[in-house]
Amino acid sequence: MEKRKIIRKLKEQGFQIIEIHASIGSTNDRAMEIVKENKVDLGIVIAEHQSKGRGRGERTWETEEGAGLALSFIFGDIAAHQNILGRVTGIGALAVTQTVTELFDLSAKIKWPNDVLLDGKKFCGILTEADWVGSNLRSLIVGIGINISKSAIPKEVLFPATALELEYKDSISKEILLEKLIVNLLRVMKEINSDQIIREWEENLAFKGSEVFLHRDGSHICSGELLGLDDDGGIVILTSDEKKNIFYYGDLHLAVK
Ligand code: ATP
Ligand code: BTN
Repeated sequence: MEKRKIIRKLKEQGFQIIEIHASIGSTNDRAMEIVKENKVDLGIVIAEHQSKGRGRGERTWETEEGAGLALSFIFGDIAAHQNILGRVTGIGALAVTQTVTELFDLSAKIKWPNDVLLDGKKFCGILTEADWVGSNLRSLIVGIGINISKSAIPKEVLFPATALELEYKDSISKEILLEKLIVNLLRVMKEINSDQIIREWEENLAFKGSEVFLHRDGSHICSGELLGLDDDGGIVILTSDEKKNIFYYGDLHLAVK
């Protein structure tokens, strides 16, 4: 990637901290180190390879050299609004879906809470982490991992995986993808407190109207029809007793029956 051009553009967009690494452990870990040392309103760590990429819980996220993109955004100026915590991962996913629609005319769906799918397969995962000072939320780190070419797909996965180029059936420029994603993410983050943005997220929700179940560590939590999202980004599931059950971001996993 053309580092100098990207850095110039990011500065124009107001990024105070910009790091672009060929290889790193985890961009989220690096972003967390940065926010522990500095007050940052807007920052970004980008890498083309991660040796210790992380998913939720103890799971790993692979960013294969030359085949994927890992980025972690640092948002400090919006951290005062603690109600955004339940929204930010889905809003990040929304920016990814908008980006692939605008650039490649692909229809991506958001698998609540943190995955983005193409043709029912995962090509993007999002890991949001918070930096707390006591009970105050100081910064949010939104980590986005995207599979670009076929070799980004790990050999063993828990959920079917794909890559952008496989679905687009042509090669993709990382720079163009990055540029568009950043513009879209900054835009949706500005609207994070609006109801409209939740409805846009809901429009792109995977498995809406399908029978789904939620589990935590393999234990069944709830099954029923996936109705959509509530105003705070919680998932709404209609159970057979006609009750609407709402669950918020946490270590919950969604699956289709
Ligand atoms: P869920 O998808 O059930 O909500 P999650 O999003 O919290 O769970 P996982 O989907 O389990 O977390 O994400 C981590 C998993 O993603 C890993 O265990 C691995 O199987 C898979 N994975 C790792 N790297 C990639 C990748 N580059 N592309 C697609 N899948 C990957
Ligand atoms: C998941 O699906 O569980 C989330 C995967 C999140 C991966 C991204 S890649 C950039 C950032 N750095 C990490 O170590 N993880 C996130």
